[in-house]
Amino acid sequence: MNALIINCSPVRSGATAEIVRIVAEQLSPRFTTRSICIDDYSFGYCKGCRSCHSSAECIQNDDIPVIMSEYEWADVIVSVSPSYWADIPGQFKAFIDRCTPWCNTHEPHASVSAGKKGYAIALRTGPGMKECERIIQSIEHFCGHLEIECCGSLGLCLVECKADVAPHMDEIAGFCNSIHS
Ligand SMILES: Cc1cc2nc3c(=O)[nH]c(=O)nc-3n(C[C@H](O)[C@H](O)[C@H](O)COP(=O)(O)O)c2cc1C
Repeated sequence: MNALIINCSPVRSGATAEIVRIVAEQLSPRFTTRSICIDDYSFGYCKGCRSCHSSAECIQNDDIPVIMSEYEWADVIVSVSPSYWADIPGQFKAFIDRCTPWCNTHEPHASVSAGKKGYAIALRTGPGMKECERIIQSIEHFCGHLEIECCGSLGLCLVECKADVAPHMDEIAGFCNSIHS
């Protein structure tokens, strides 16, 4: 079984990357894991032209299909997102917008294979869980339109940098134990 773990932050060596590393490590006895960072890819913003609503394809030719091929490879997708101004980072939002050709909001649409399971982890510096829940909702809304079943989420507060992840190790490990394909 394959697990894709996505760093939704543009920072490749920060707190989000550290959580991605831990999740990959925890899942590796049960899954073949692959970790990607949203900033590894080059893609433009959705122009809102809606041509994909009738063609199921984007007019732009960039790395979005490469990312979607990673989704296709995976049985389980774990999205790990920091709060940037109480929401997902702009790079990840831009990716989601560009996935409109794959979303079930219109016909025809492209699709990923059925049966995938999605999990979300949100982290933030501040103390309140509500902001994490908002981020989890954004990720789950996206997964829902890809018809990826949302099976679990974890919010982590008081995480500013990589060093702040260690106190959450047990929570992250417990969450990873709940991840199943
Ligand atoms: C542009 C920016 C905006 C942020 N906005 C928030 C915020 O609104 N609430 C919060 O709790 N933390 C906020 N943070 C802190 C990050 O969520 C936190 O530092 C996280 O651990 C960053 O992970 P990263 O370095 O892997 O991207 C923000 C950080 C950045 C860079």
